[in-house]
Amino acid sequence: MTNADLEKLVDTSDEWIVSRTGIKERRVAPDGMAVSDMSVIACERALEAAGMHSHEIDLVILGTVTPDFKLPSTACVIQEKMDLPNATAFDVVSACTGFINGLSVASALIETGAYKNALVIGSEKLSSVLNYKDRNTCILFGDGAGAAVLSASEDGSGIIGTYLKSDGKLRDLLWIKDGGAVSPVNAGYAFEGDDKINMSGGDIFKVAVRQMCNAAVEVIEKAGLTSDDIALVIPHQANIRIIGAISKRLKISMDKVFVNIEKYGNTSAASVPIALDEAYRAGRIKKGDHVLMVAFGGGLIWGSALVKW
Ligand code: ACO
Repeated sequence: MTNADLEKLVDTSDEWIVSRTGIKERRVAPDGMAVSDMSVIACERALEAAGMHSHEIDLVILGTVTPDFKLPSTACVIQEKMDLPNATAFDVVSACTGFINGLSVASALIETGAYKNALVIGSEKLSSVLNYKDRNTCILFGDGAGAAVLSASEDGSGIIGTYLKSDGKLRDLLWIKDGGAVSPVNAGYAFEGDDKINMSGGDIFKVAVRQMCNAAVEVIEKAGLTSDDIALVIPHQANIRIIGAISKRLKISMDKVFVNIEKYGNTSAASVPIALDEAYRAGRIKKGDHVLMVAFGGGLIWGSALVKW
């Protein structure tokens, strides 16, 4: 869906969207394609890249806020569709930090020795929760999926630090108010947009810049490193101006920051793994590189993960 397509739906323009967000187009999954279907494609590609068979996976963690069903977890649906008989599977609901939270949990569980090979997925069908009459939100978001295989390593490579934080007091800055047990959507529900994403964009912008920088600094310093040691930053793709502000504050030049927002918009939990995959396949990550992932989302919640590749 291009910005020109959106001009036909709401009072907006390509110029406004590109200059305010950096987004030129976003993907919209067709009817009948659910988060589990997109995840399967991402997982198959991740397994292929890792040279691994699905039966070797013993842990599946999916970050999503647009599950196939309220029950069971979509990770269990993926388990069945992917033939992962030796795994346990569950979702994490952490909005745009879903992949980072998933990585953090998977890494900790692998470190205990209880699990060996995890599939960590971020996947969203945000088009299903967008109000295409609300120009404040519908221009920003898109659908997509990304996945990574995480395995135990002995050579010092892997996830060398994570930082996770949230502030539930700010939950109504970005939320879907209706449709849960507190405010069910049932027969007679009058649609006013509250069962779709609602967002206070300006307020979020400020918190996003501040807390993504904090999350980055925390994990870099804890690892005994500095910004100069970071070979590549994979930030959540929410707004090119947020990404630019973070690059400036962290004193990490934009040529070390991966950006693909122009093609996908904000895909929430899928944003970081899609960018990670594209960066890796484009040859932007070499063995031994320190790669910093950092994200921010509804909760509000934010976090980072530092990887020695
Ligand atoms: N087209 C044209 N005009 C618009 C549009 C649009 N699509 N959307 C809003 N406007 C108008 C507003 O109504 C406002 O008009 P007004 O001054 O007459 O009231 C004007 O443009 C300026 O609006 P601002 O909100 O000040 O614009 P801003 O420069 O802040 O950009 C934006 C808005 C892009 C939403 C920005 O605030 C942003 O990116 N915030 C962060 C949002 C975000 O990242 N959310 C997700 C994070 S969490 C997660 O990923 C799930």
